[in-house]
Amino acid sequence: MRRIVTVLLIIIMLLNNIPRGTSRRAFNTLHFRKVSTDFGRKYASNYAARISEDNKAINMTLDLVRDLTVDLWLKVNITQRETKNRYKNIFAYNMNLCQLIGKAKGINVFTIWLQNIYRYTNMPMSCPIEEGQYYWRDLRPDKDSIPAFILTGHFRIDALFYMKDWDNDMLTNTTMFVYIKMK
Ligand SMILES: *[C@@H]1O[C@H](CO)[C@@H](O)[C@H](O)[C@H]1NC(C)=O
Ligand SMILES: *[C@@H]1O[C@H](CO)[C@@H](O)[C@H](O)[C@H]1NC(C)=O
Ligand SMILES: *[C@@H]1O[C@H](CO)[C@@H](O)[C@H](O)[C@H]1NC(C)=O
Repeated sequence: MRRIVTVLLIIIMLLNNIPRGTSRRAFNTLHFRKVSTDFGRKYASNYAARISEDNKAINMTLDLVRDLTVDLWLKVNITQRETKNRYKNIFAYNMNLCQLIGKAKGINVFTIWLQNIYRYTNMPMSCPIEEGQYYWRDLRPDKDSIPAFILTGHFRIDALFYMKDWDNDMLTNTTMFVYIKMK
């Protein structure tokens, strides 16, 4: 149970959108400040992210050149900046995305969250993920999507998508710096 809750929190934080009114404290603003990307050339021909001019949204594209016939894993680290070069750990988690998606069958809170997360993308909600051009367009956090315990500040989010069964080969590596201002 703790595991599921942790996974959900990470997903909410990272990707956004839980149904309105389910979190107690809304945030004022989330600004994407910087994003850097890298990808495995064996699996993709391009992976890029672009922050909107107002810093409130982000577009991402991934050109997958090969079917991913094994499970896709996600390793996430979220840290908050304390001083210029010191970060405090908020979350570190490693999850099998295919298994997670597979479990979200039927109508429950879990499915609703996942559906919200998938609202901005053409990614399939099932595995295997086939070769093709994928995107996230105008991805922006919903105002109720940041957990209440988060404090105003600068955050760093590291997200590594990889294939555990293919020698832990990297699909994409993303580092995002965001500023969150809570009410
Ligand atoms: C993101 O994509 C949307 C929809 O295609 C487009 O209108 C917008 O200009 C793009 N923003 C950036 C920063 O590229
Ligand atoms: C997450 O943090 C751990 C320890 O702080 C580090 O070993 C690991 O490389 C980090 N992973 C990512 C994806 O940044
Ligand atoms: C991912 O990117 C971060 C930041 O650039 C880097 O520290 C880390 O080593 C990279 N991880 C992999 C597996 O390439």
